[in-house]
Amino acid sequence: MADPGKTRADSHTIMSELVLPNDTNGLGNLMGGRLLHWMDVCAAISAQRHAGTVCVTASVDTVEFHSPILQSEIVILTSWVNRAFRTSMEIEIQVEAENPRTGTCRIANKAFYTFVAMGADGKPTPVPPIEPASEEEQAAWDEAGRRRQFRLLNAGRLDASDIENLQEYLGTIKGSS
Ligand SMILES: CC(C)(COP(=O)(O)OP(=O)(O)OC[C@H]1O[C@@H](n2cnc3c(N)ncnc32)[C@H](O)[C@@H]1OP(=O)(O)O)[C@@H](O)C(=O)NCCC(=O)NCCS
Repeated sequence: MADPGKTRADSHTIMSELVLPNDTNGLGNLMGGRLLHWMDVCAAISAQRHAGTVCVTASVDTVEFHSPILQSEIVILTSWVNRAFRTSMEIEIQVEAENPRTGTCRIANKAFYTFVAMGADGKPTPVPPIEPASEEEQAAWDEAGRRRQFRLLNAGRLDASDIENLQEYLGTIKGSS
């Protein structure tokens, strides 16, 4: 029988953290490494909610830090599974910074993580598919497939000659990041 799919909502995860002095650099801004750790934890929860088993980080796409997050701000991390492949999943994570005095939020960054589900034997194990529930989720599902090709190309797991219309494809990736 076919594996019943899951929706994005099944893996939706929200995590909040308060930026304390020990999380900051000499300028009083949140250290990038601390943020990456929180992002990894949040993404792992999404992956495990989807897969129903322990999952490991296989790769992280480029993360850019556009706007500093300050001490005493609240970091709100939101993640979900965009698409599941055989044993791996693409997790999208968005990071917002909330000013505790005004309550205003701003987008700090976003990233895509790839997690792999691990079986009891310590080897990658199949995960259920994602069933997109809206046009937006379908678009994210499609884009996840394109990003996966780029990742596997970078990891040396796919040859450039395996990607049809590579130039057009690179343009699509640039437009969707
Ligand atoms: C990730 C890991 C499980 C892959 O193991 P592997 O023996 O290469 O297994 P496979 O070749 O069967 O690949 C498993 C899946 O990982 C995906 N994958 C592997 N490397 C990848 C990469 N760099 N980027 C994206 N996906 C990757 C494969 O495409 C495959 O996905 P699919 O089944 O959906 O098609 C293994 O490399 C590992 O355990 N890495 C360490 C993970 C870890 O400890 N993370 C924390 C960092 S300290």
